[in-house]
Amino acid sequence: MQEKVQWVREDPKNRLVFWPTEEMKKKAWVSDESIYTKAAEDPVAFWAQRAKEGLEWFEPWKEAYIWKPPFYKWFVDGKINAAYNSLDRHIKTWRKNKAAIIWEPEPVNQQKRVLTYFDLYRKVCKFANVLKGLGVERGDRVGIYLPMIPEVQIAMLACARIGAPHSVVFSAFSGESLRNRMKDAEANVLVTADGYYRRGKGIDLKTNADIGAENTSIEHVVVVKRTGADVSMSEGRDHWWHKLMAKAPLHCDPEPMDSEDPLFILYTSGTTGKPKGIIHDTGGYSTVAYWTSKWDFDLHDEDIFWCTADIGWITGHTYACYGPLLNGATSLIYEGAPNYPEVDRWWQIVEKYGVTIFYTAPTAIRMILRWGEEWLKKHDLSSIRLLGSVGEPINQDAWMWYFKNVGGGRCPIIDTWWQTETGATLINALPGIGPFIPTVAGRSFPGTKHDIYDETGNPVEIGEGGYLVQKSPFAPGMLRGVYKDPDRYRAQYWSVYGDEAYYTSDGAIWWDESGNIRLTGRVDDVMKVAGHRMSTAEVENALTQHSSVAECAVVAAPHDIKGEVPVAFVVLRQGQTPSKDLEAELIQQVVKVIGPTAKPERIVLTDALPKTRSGKIMRRILKALVKGETVGDVTTLMNPEAVEDLKEKVGQ
Ligand code: PRX
Repeated sequence: MQEKVQWVREDPKNRLVFWPTEEMKKKAWVSDESIYTKAAEDPVAFWAQRAKEGLEWFEPWKEAYIWKPPFYKWFVDGKINAAYNSLDRHIKTWRKNKAAIIWEPEPVNQQKRVLTYFDLYRKVCKFANVLKGLGVERGDRVGIYLPMIPEVQIAMLACARIGAPHSVVFSAFSGESLRNRMKDAEANVLVTADGYYRRGKGIDLKTNADIGAENTSIEHVVVVKRTGADVSMSEGRDHWWHKLMAKAPLHCDPEPMDSEDPLFILYTSGTTGKPKGIIHDTGGYSTVAYWTSKWDFDLHDEDIFWCTADIGWITGHTYACYGPLLNGATSLIYEGAPNYPEVDRWWQIVEKYGVTIFYTAPTAIRMILRWGEEWLKKHDLSSIRLLGSVGEPINQDAWMWYFKNVGGGRCPIIDTWWQTETGATLINALPGIGPFIPTVAGRSFPGTKHDIYDETGNPVEIGEGGYLVQKSPFAPGMLRGVYKDPDRYRAQYWSVYGDEAYYTSDGAIWWDESGNIRLTGRVDDVMKVAGHRMSTAEVENALTQHSSVAECAVVAAPHDIKGEVPVAFVVLRQGQTPSKDLEAELIQQVVKVIGPTAKPERIVLTDALPKTRSGKIMRRILKALVKGETVGDVTTLMNPEAVEDLKEKVGQ
């Protein structure tokens, strides 16, 4: 990057470190490094100030922070509504006719949709009345199983308006996955669509939604007409969105919610086969959604913010819905695939709308990199001024390529570390402060504190690796629990180092003495497959439901583009004959039960899995095999011969 020398300061250790330019500093909301030390002096006061400044409260809180391990509360007894803060307060200003949502459909011959804040406000009020008309009351859970169309944000905000926590399920998850989540959430209403477009084809969503609603407490299904496909509507249960909306009243008062009332539940994968419902509160979550959007992405009124994540994931919730809308910003969403009709679709969209902030995942960058720079060169990407990365560690090659080819060497890359549980970003550089270091996410967001512990809970030294933890006061947007499962909440997050440190399940290294952190990936059996969080146990559950499978073990194998992919080691039941067809059938089994994102890259059919003498599957060995690492000592195994056989099968 010699031509952009203003980026690089002399680094004492000669490392690749980028710093903000003067121009960036001047524009940025925060550019003074002292923000970190000031916030650290009194983090509770810091967040209380943020909550007051960034949001409108119906009633002030009585206490800013309460910590009764392992539970914390923020802005206790404060009254607030997230939809009111995302809409009503903007329509009282010049932002009334500003674009809130820009939607790009996948088919190139279809029209974009632009919803102003006023449009969105009216639709949200109407849909809130639709929900009320279907019997939804404050506190009831509403399932949302929608593709990337504006109705997804409308439905979420309508839920927020009436105080009914939404539970959005990624539209590429299977009907069975949807059903499990709806059952756990005990939702009575599901909002879905007839279908959506993916790579030029109409995809049927309604059939999956029907499977998802079966044998659950769902009484009403609201269906958005997106593709116009012929779908079956169940009399009395299913209703067309547009028909209900046509009759719905225009006004709906926002429900004054307690700050600690849940805003939503989002299911995510843990280490067991059952996804957990992560609960996020209203006031604390809105505070961090607002401020992280504003400071991390240096979000200004004139920006067009495109977060490419699907709304079905936390990144979509916070940075394609709540964060930008709370800020009165413009959020762009795109329905389809990045490679339709050609692999430059994303760049066409950037050029068409003059996107200024572009936030995506390393897996996407690696894929685009493979497609070649010429596709980017066809388009004017000069509107982009800031890039973001999220979801998995970004390797240096991908970082540099992103910096040079998407950012034209002009734009900082904000590598944001966070989780479904944290609700918003936590570790990253700020655009006006920096530094931006390939493979190093950055520092803890002002007012938050992380540490890196060794196995025994002692903090590690600079340059050493360990386990990332968060310390009290916990960021206001942190999870408030696992839905209906407080034991799992305690066991997952508060048992490794006790009540004093939230355990992230991520490996990390202190990069320098200023608090910069390099994240090294999950240390549990949670995979990141093309940025999607998936547990090996869920894939195992899906496989063992197949009648031919006696036993199986799934491990994550490294993959050049997707980061990680599941590889399944499967022992067939007696009498079953191994075949390519059966392997394909098992892959389809996973697609059917979970969805295409969990598809095993490979099925390894074997006679036995390596086991300890007590009968425990030795995953360590399977992991080593798929990573091409040496397997180590196998003499303590019950069946060391199984390893030889597997080595041959995986080509080691
Ligand atoms: O391992 C970390 C990884 O993604 C996990 C959380 O996944 P999920 O809940 O799906 O949320 C993803 C979007 C926030 C983390 O435990 N991860 C996320 N961001 C980064 C990351 N790993 C390294 N660098 C990141 N920037």
